[in-house]
Amino acid sequence: MKQQTILVTGGAGFVGSVCVELLVAQGYDVIVLDNLQTGNRRAVHPKPAWCAAASATPAC
Ligand SMILES: NC(=O)c1ccc[n+]([C@@H]2O[C@H](COP(=O)([O-])OP(=O)(O)OC[C@H]3O[C@@H](n4cnc5c(N)ncnc54)[C@H](O)[C@@H]3O)[C@@H](O)[C@H]2O)c1
Repeated sequence: MKQQTILVTGGAGFVGSVCVELLVAQGYDVIVLDNLQTGNRRAVHPKPAWCAAASATPAC
């Protein structure tokens, strides 16, 4: 089966970081998009690719 990649916006926040944990545990590739306004990089599972962003239209 083709590997699926899921983008989690706000993935360093309270709800988003839990979503990331669950998705990684289910075997998905996960990309986190978060500007760290209220989130914390350390809350994110180490596996996902990380994409910090200052706006909704990041250059990453
Ligand atoms: N221990 C607990 O029970 C606990 C702890 C924290 C929060 N809460 C509750 O959880 C809720 C809040 O959780 P949440 O996950 O919705 O909020 P959050 O603030 O934790 O997460 C939102 C995430 O979105 C990011 N973000 C915001 N604007 C962005 C933008 N323009 N571009 C990219 N990223 C952006 C923030 O940096 C943050 O990481 C509240 O109801 C709060 O009371 C509970």
